[in-house]
Amino acid sequence: MFVKEATKITLCPQETASPPCRPGSEAIKQGIRRNFVKRAASYDRHARVQRFMAWELLAQTAPIVNKAHHILEVGCGTGYLTAALRRLNPHANLLALDLDAALLARARRRLPPDPHLAWVVADGELPPSRDVNLIISNSTFQWFTHPETTISLYFQSLKKCGCLAFSTLGPGTFGELAAALRQAGNLLNINRIPSIPASAFLTATDWARILQQAGFPAIHLQRLPLSLAFPTVPDFLQSLQATGATNPQPRPFSAKLYKTMVAAYQDLFRQNGAITVTYEVILAVAGK
Ligand SMILES: C[S@@+](CC[C@H](N)C(=O)[O-])C[C@H]1O[C@@H](n2cnc3c(N)ncnc32)[C@H](O)[C@@H]1O
Repeated sequence: MFVKEATKITLCPQETASPPCRPGSEAIKQGIRRNFVKRAASYDRHARVQRFMAWELLAQTAPIVNKAHHILEVGCGTGYLTAALRRLNPHANLLALDLDAALLARARRRLPPDPHLAWVVADGELPPSRDVNLIISNSTFQWFTHPETTISLYFQSLKKCGCLAFSTLGPGTFGELAAALRQAGNLLNINRIPSIPASAFLTATDWARILQQAGFPAIHLQRLPLSLAFPTVPDFLQSLQATGATNPQPRPFSAKLYKTMVAAYQDLFRQNGAITVTYEVILAVAGK
C-alpha cells in the first residue's frame, strides 16, 4: 500500500541561509486546535499515515524510549503514540501534552490510570519540563509557528545525552493537490488561488539546519515519500478532513474552482481507477 523510498539528508556547507520564517500567531494555533478537536471522534479511523509515521518513529527510537527516565511527548492528540511509548517503557515518567483538553481526555481514556503519566494542556512550543531524557512527537511539528525558537528550547530542556525525536511532514505533501489547484487557477484565469498549508511546511534540510543551529551535535534525518491511492478526489479530501489536518486559516473556495480543481486532479493523477496522494514524511533523531 505504501511506496517507501528512504533518502538520507546531508547538509551541504554552502547551505547556510536561514530557513524560511513561518508566520506565528495565536490565531493560527487556535485554528489548528479547533480543526483537530472537531475531528477527534473520526481521527483514529482515518489517521493511516500518522500511524505509519508513529511506527517508523518507534522503529528508530525503541532503544532510546526503553532507557529514558523522563519522556515528554508533544502533540499527543488521541494518544496513539502515548500508548505505544507506555508499552515500550512502563516505568518512565511520561508527560503527554496537547493544545486541547478534549483530545487529552480522549487519550486518557485509551490508557489505564497511571501515577507516572501526566496529561497537560499546553502549547508544545513552550516546553513545560526540564531535565528530560527524550522529547518525542509524531506528526505535529509541521504545525509549529516558530520552530527555530522551539527547537532551541528543547535543546535546553534536554539532559546531557538526551534525545529529540520527531516525525513531521514536508512541503512535498499533497503535491498533486497543489498542482491541480494551480492548473485550475490557470484555466479559470485566477491569479491568486488559495495555497495549501503543506506547501509551506519546512523541508528536511530546513530541519537539519534548525537542529544544528540549536546545538544538536548528532543529527539523523530521513525523508520517506509515501503514495496513497484513493478512489476519487472527494474521497481523499473527506478523509483528510476527518483527521482534522486541514487549513487552520481556510480561505473561501468557489464551487467553480473546486469543480475545476477536482477535474484537473483526476486528469493529471488518476491511474488504474484511483488517484494518487503523496505524503512527504520526515523523520529526525537528534542527540545532545
Ligand atoms: C496530526 S495530530 C497527531 C496526534 C498524535 N501525535 C498521533 O500521532 O496520532 C497533531 C496533534 O498536534 C497537536 N498540536 C499541534 N500544534 C501543537 C502545539 N503547538 N502544541 C501542542 N500540541 C499541538 C494537535 O492538537 C493534534 O492533536
